[in-house]
Amino acid sequence: MIYPLLRSLLFTLSPEQAHHFSMKCLSMACALPAGESLISSCFRFPSPMPRTVSGIEFPNPVGLGAGFDKNAQYLAPLQALGFGFVEVGTITPLAQPGNEKPRLFRLPADEALINRMGFNNDGMEAVKVRLAQWKNREAAAHTKSKMIIGANLGKNKITPNEDAWKDYVKVFQHLHEAADYFVVNVSSPNTPGLRALQDKDALLQITEQLQHYNQGKQNPKPIWLKIAPDLSKEQLNDIVELAHRVPLNGLVATNTTISRENLSPASQEKLASIGMGGLSGKPLQKLSQDVFQYVRQQCGNSIPIISSGGIMSGADGASRLLAGADLIQIWTGFIYRGPTLVKEIGKELASHQ
Ligand SMILES: Cc1cc2nc3c(=O)[nH]c(=O)nc-3n(C[C@H](O)[C@H](O)[C@H](O)COP(=O)(O)O)c2cc1C
Repeated sequence: MIYPLLRSLLFTLSPEQAHHFSMKCLSMACALPAGESLISSCFRFPSPMPRTVSGIEFPNPVGLGAGFDKNAQYLAPLQALGFGFVEVGTITPLAQPGNEKPRLFRLPADEALINRMGFNNDGMEAVKVRLAQWKNREAAAHTKSKMIIGANLGKNKITPNEDAWKDYVKVFQHLHEAADYFVVNVSSPNTPGLRALQDKDALLQITEQLQHYNQGKQNPKPIWLKIAPDLSKEQLNDIVELAHRVPLNGLVATNTTISRENLSPASQEKLASIGMGGLSGKPLQKLSQDVFQYVRQQCGNSIPIISSGGIMSGADGASRLLAGADLIQIWTGFIYRGPTLVKEIGKELASHQ
């Protein structure tokens, strides 16, 4: 009820300002005495719905997609908002500023966003420190249902594609103890040449190297691969084959799209002034759902699939899970629908049980 009003106020700020302003306010509210438990009591997932995926017990199947908390700065408020898991990053070995601003745009007529952030992040050292602090805090709190933390891995802009695997391995090695699962991101449209790494040979090199180091550890962690919604069926088949061969522990389908289909005239008018970037939100819904369904068909239940893209309502989230997604992630829906979206998905799921 309150969120549409709050959203109109937040939408008077630039998208990036609104993002950090609202998350800083929530962090401050959580730091007040009883603040976190009060927020948590309002937004708690309606009933416990734990799911074990890739050997990890997720307190509930609704997660926050990568790119929202790139630097692991907002974990306490995100846990209070009811998320079962949060994927931090994309994290690169070295800190980098990302693309020039403005680089995030709203298309309110379509409940969509276009971004070309370009992996702006504080780098693996800073994220490792924050994740270690978070772990210590959680261990001290003895909370029962712990939010799961994923780390989304990327390469620095200055690293040439032939050395990309080294960047992925560096960040993985650095954060291995600090995160619960890892995601290889080769599907962002905003780092020049990155999506070429989705080609068979490049991808095989990155994922095999990562699994090699992972399997050498006492406690190997799940490694998932995040795919673009713009891949052809042939490329998707290659990815399913690769996922079995390496093997990978899961697929995240999908990232943002470079397509500009399914937009209203009001949004189309804005496109020329916005320029390049990945489109997310409602117009991505069908594409992302189709890719999810195709990949699910191809790999049966042999590989967990995390569905991401265009989940804008409780019904959208529940229907993805009922269609066989092991977990789901939201992002743009959280901006347009507000923080109650997690709870709404939970309620809708409960009504199907
Ligand atoms: C501003 C913004 C930044 C993002 N940054 C990343 C990122 O760093 N790494 C990544 O794998 N995905 C990133 N994403 C993609 C989301 O995680 C998600 O997969 C995508 O937006 C589709 O979901 P949605 O339609 O629910 O937003 C970003 C999305 C947005 C809107």
